[in-house]
Amino acid sequence: MKYSIAIGALAATASATAGMKKHIRQYGYPTTKPVVNATLLKADITIENLLAGSKQLEDFAYASEERNRLIGSPGHNDTIYWIKDTLESLDGYYNVSLQEFFTVAQLSGQINSFLVGGAVPPNGSFLLFDYSPSGNVTAPLAVVSNLGCNATDYPAGVSGNIALISRGSCDFGLKSALAGAAGAVGAVIYNNAAGPPLQGTLGAPPRPEGDYVPSISISQNLGAGYVAAIGNGTNVTATIDVTTDIRNISTYNVIATTNSGDQLNKLALGAHTDSVAAGPGINDDGSGTVGILEVAKALSKYTITNAVTFGFWAAEEEGLLGSTYYVENLPAAEAAKIRAYLNFDMIASPNYINAIYDGDGSSFNLSGPAGSAEIETFFEDYFTGAGANFTATAFDGRSDYGPFLDVGIPSGGLFTGAEELKTEEEALLFGGTAGVALDQCYHAACDNVTNLNVEAFELHAKAIADSVATYALSWDGFPARNTTTAKRSVVKPRRTVQNTHRRKSKRAPLAKK
Ligand SMILES: *[C@@H]1O[C@H](CO)[C@@H](O)[C@H](O)[C@H]1NC(C)=O
Ligand SMILES: *[C@@H]1O[C@H](CO)[C@@H](O)[C@H](O)[C@H]1NC(C)=O
Ligand SMILES: *[C@@H]1O[C@H](CO)[C@@H](O)[C@H](O)[C@H]1NC(C)=O
Ligand SMILES: *[C@@H]1O[C@H](CO)[C@@H](O)[C@H](O)[C@H]1NC(C)=O
Ligand SMILES: *[C@@H]1O[C@H](CO)[C@@H](O)[C@H](O)[C@H]1NC(C)=O
Ligand SMILES: *[C@@H]1O[C@H](CO)[C@@H](O)[C@H](O)[C@H]1NC(C)=O
Ligand SMILES: *[C@@H]1O[C@H](CO)[C@@H](O)[C@H](O)[C@H]1NC(C)=O
Ligand SMILES: *[C@@H]1O[C@H](CO)[C@@H](O)[C@H](O)[C@H]1NC(C)=O
Ligand SMILES: *[C@@H]1O[C@H](CO)[C@@H](O)[C@H](O)[C@H]1NC(C)=O
Ligand SMILES: *[C@@H]1O[C@H](CO)[C@@H](O)[C@H](O)[C@H]1NC(C)=O
Ligand SMILES: *[C@@H]1O[C@H](CO)[C@@H](O)[C@H](O)[C@H]1NC(C)=O
Ligand SMILES: *[C@@H]1O[C@H](CO)[C@@H](O)[C@H](O)[C@H]1NC(C)=O
Ligand SMILES: [Zn+2]
Repeated sequence: MKYSIAIGALAATASATAGMKKHIRQYGYPTTKPVVNATLLKADITIENLLAGSKQLEDFAYASEERNRLIGSPGHNDTIYWIKDTLESLDGYYNVSLQEFFTVAQLSGQINSFLVGGAVPPNGSFLLFDYSPSGNVTAPLAVVSNLGCNATDYPAGVSGNIALISRGSCDFGLKSALAGAAGAVGAVIYNNAAGPPLQGTLGAPPRPEGDYVPSISISQNLGAGYVAAIGNGTNVTATIDVTTDIRNISTYNVIATTNSGDQLNKLALGAHTDSVAAGPGINDDGSGTVGILEVAKALSKYTITNAVTFGFWAAEEEGLLGSTYYVENLPAAEAAKIRAYLNFDMIASPNYINAIYDGDGSSFNLSGPAGSAEIETFFEDYFTGAGANFTATAFDGRSDYGPFLDVGIPSGGLFTGAEELKTEEEALLFGGTAGVALDQCYHAACDNVTNLNVEAFELHAKAIADSVATYALSWDGFPARNTTTAKRSVVKPRRTVQNTHRRKSKRAPLAKK
């Protein structure tokens, strides 16, 4: 039965609960909403609702030809408006806003043909640089002097031809731009180390030195052969035929803050709304998105002590762009009100581990601001209470908590694993299959609803509920914010498109030089 406000007021005067009295003291009017606690909020989280939300995201992805939720796509736009509408339907519990930002992003890229001397070089010996423009050119290769980091390294003969440049010293983007400025129609950059060609990026355009030209990365072997042939007078002609889709995209973070609760001692938490181009991104990070959204819905049934901000970040896959934009545009006085930030990026991996960000640095030697260790301990206690094992994952800033750490906000969160193979030790702790990726569908077309591990999903979503209920109720025992924490003095440059996930993978980020 639902009390009317009037009946609620009578009840309050007669036999008000402690929470109700507190609410009246705080807001001057009574509420029929019970005071939140972890037991109640956890019980509100059901696997049925989590899966229904995941199915909704999958439907958004599959409604379009792209079948993904990449920023700028219809599937991502639908995701954003669905989150906004859902939060706005909760009777004004949240102040919901869309935070727009722009980013130049490469949506796709492929080599249609790369020929040297009329033949295709061996498979695996050449790759397309990210942010290469499209083009279809055939011209002789012209050797560039030194490392091609200076306009003076580009002889007149480069004009109208394809510049052949060594890797080294400066970034690939500068080499491609200087080649363009020298009149080259393309650039081939060879590795300066043995092995396969480098998977690299030119970085998002524009850049002041010149326009990029279609650019290919090749192995050291291949490059050495071409330089030698040209050196002894051979005319080596190449064809670069590549197509990329690079756009200046408008996208949005969805930010929702409770209208109630102490706004000076806020909890913030977040997940990212975008997928990569390859698939619908239902574990990465549909699971975190739906997990925090379900908790946001459930929380609206309760009275809270501390305000809570939910951040649904866009363009995480392009380099944490949405969360970075949010933090960089948050005045220091506002940032100081955030007591802690919690991040949930992939919480339903099929061959899962229960990993907690290593906030105290005990496992990976990278610790966070005071409070980060307490958050780690909080989640350890949660798993212990749930009768589950847990492990630590590197606190290296490779997901949306990175920008929060950069401004000294204590952070933490959970992660069930990406492309890394499960170890024997992890199989003992969590079951599943050793030697198999924690998420075989990581950044792949098969990351849809069938990829989710329902047991992990429910366990981790209830962990979100536990943490939100606990901190929304009280910061007792949690360190005060140290707002004089050393901040990075320079704003980091926008990170560029990544083929690897930012969060935690042992794989190196896409090379820039
Ligand atoms: C949570 O709230 C419910 C309902 O008010 C109450 O029965 C329960 O004891 C509370 N649990 C804790 C741990 O406070
Ligand atoms: C994004 O979605 C909203 C809500 O469905 C719709 O009104 C808007 O036209 C969409 N925008 C784009 C660019 O698709
Ligand atoms: C709602 O949130 C927006 C964006 O954070 C903020 O500018 C605005 O002042 C808030 N409104 C209220 C009533 O708190
Ligand atoms: C090279 O790759 C192409 C396309 O993936 C494939 O059709 C071809 O058979 C491969 N050639 C060799 C020699 O592996
Ligand atoms: C590139 O140019 C060649 C030669 O003119 C042509 O055969 C090929 O179809 C072109 N590629 C594309 C993608 O249009
Ligand atoms: C480029 O080379 C010129 C001539 O050698 C030199 O004067 C200049 O300092 C170099 N510029 C850079 C950025 O290295
Ligand atoms: C030039 O170098 C190429 C590649 O190494 C070789 O095939 C060719 O025989 C050489 N030509 C002469 C004239 O030395
Ligand atoms: C090299 O070959 C291209 C066509 O393959 C031709 O256009 C160019 O004139 C040749 N250059 C020299 C120096 O022979
Ligand atoms: C992207 O578009 C926005 C809005 O038109 C503009 O402010 C921004 O400068 C553009 N960015 C680039 C790199 O062109
Ligand atoms: C926790 O790990 C131990 C091995 O260290 C294992 O024996 C136990 O079954 C695991 N517990 C659960 C709930 O998986
Ligand atoms: C989800 O992915 C699996 C594996 O690729 C595929 O078999 C299944 O058809 C997909 N689901 C939908 C609804 O397309
Ligand atoms: C706050 O952080 C600064 C910079 O890291 C440090 O020097 C200072 O000791 C800290 N203060 C407290 C009370 O921990
Ligand atoms: Zn992710």
